[in-house]
Amino acid sequence: MKTIIEPFRIKMVEPIKLTTRDERVQLIRDAHYNPFLLRAEDVIIDLLTDSGTSAMSSEAWAALMRGDESYAGARSWYRFRDTVKDIFGFEQVIPTHQGRAAEHILFGVMVKPGSIVPNNTHFDTTRGNIEFVGGEAVDLPCPEADDIEMRHPFKGNMDTAALEELVAEHGPERIPVIMVTVTNNSGGGQPVSMANIREISRIAKAAGIPFYIDACRFAENAHFIKRREEGYADIAAIDIAREMFGYADGCTMSAKKDSFGNIGGFLCTNDAELASRERNILIMTEGFPTYGGLAGRDLEAIAVGLRETLDEHYLDYRLLSTRYVVERLVEAGIPVMAPAGGHAVYLDARRFLPHIEPLHYPGQALSIELYVEAGVRAVEIGTVMFGLDPHSGEERPARLDLLRLAIPRRVYTQSHMDYVLEAIGQVWERRETIRGMRITRAPQFLRHFTAHFEWID
Ligand code: F0G
Repeated sequence: MKTIIEPFRIKMVEPIKLTTRDERVQLIRDAHYNPFLLRAEDVIIDLLTDSGTSAMSSEAWAALMRGDESYAGARSWYRFRDTVKDIFGFEQVIPTHQGRAAEHILFGVMVKPGSIVPNNTHFDTTRGNIEFVGGEAVDLPCPEADDIEMRHPFKGNMDTAALEELVAEHGPERIPVIMVTVTNNSGGGQPVSMANIREISRIAKAAGIPFYIDACRFAENAHFIKRREEGYADIAAIDIAREMFGYADGCTMSAKKDSFGNIGGFLCTNDAELASRERNILIMTEGFPTYGGLAGRDLEAIAVGLRETLDEHYLDYRLLSTRYVVERLVEAGIPVMAPAGGHAVYLDARRFLPHIEPLHYPGQALSIELYVEAGVRAVEIGTVMFGLDPHSGEERPARLDLLRLAIPRRVYTQSHMDYVLEAIGQVWERRETIRGMRITRAPQFLRHFTAHFEWID
């Protein structure tokens, strides 16, 4: 069969409240033109994030009932730990309440003032946690990543020549850890090839620097390798994942992505001494080492989700359904990042609205119009998010102005996505009438979450 269906049936539904255009005009005005300030129930299709928003399976819901809530040594912990060890292969597993807690602990023990941490592209919380302890987070994306429309199979790769230079210049004294993020979220959800991971690992080993993987979307990355990289077509996703992690010394993971958790995460390493220092922080900030920041029932659900996410029918559906949206947009001539990444669609707001200059926030304007048009919520990744230097107070255009439409796992059907496509098409038709925006109020840090906006006349 040519038609790719959603490989699941729906046995519980959550009604969507439908609003009118007039209502949405009022609702978004009341939210000061910031979609983060909307009530979620006033959103028809919520594409703000794929994090913690996935649908759990009947098996995961059943596993919740098995949750052992003992403070220490719960059965659920052993089930969780053994599943993580089986897939990720690391000796030490530290459960946390979400990904950023794992980052906070890792960088707390590894990074000092003056440290440099390279990554293909740091996610904001990774960068934030490195900077918080006085380190410098350096992005080394491959050159192809800059070209929004260039069809390269592994645009999430790290620039390993640049990594080698950085390592030669600063060495292990300044670089306590090298990271790679799979898939590269801040770089468009694009995958990283096995060859690239192998090469980063080689450089790290030669210099004696630990190599960690930010593993949030590891299953999507593994499946891209299977479909795109020579030699992997006949290898099971789980074995590709095992090979990826086999090159690394540890990982951080947000279980809110590729394991369908509504909450959860973990930190892994093969270094027992390091793990013992990490557990000391864990006990103070998250919880006892056999539950971290999680309830026993969460540990159970994540253990189930980690297996389900490696199901290749699911992964085919996942990657193809994202690609479906991107290819329809390309056909319509609407500027979008291509090829499709795993978890999200990135509209190029700067080219969608070329008459709006970056400092008038084309991505924000597009997000508001999409909400008004059809109740679709997406997130600006551009000058609102990255344009302000919080220390100097100076504002500059970000490298790109994108609008990210992240697709929660197993939540929306193809007809929901057709509705989103129709909405984008209608906004595209009237794009010349859309105005720029200005900020009327904003905090010094992470302003995109709470800033207030207004239209420019
Ligand atoms: N690393 C990456 C690559 C991420 O995308 C995220 C979260 C984190 C780390 C942090 O994990 O949220 O569990 O603390 N990304 C979400 C997003 C929030 O919308 O892309 P967390």
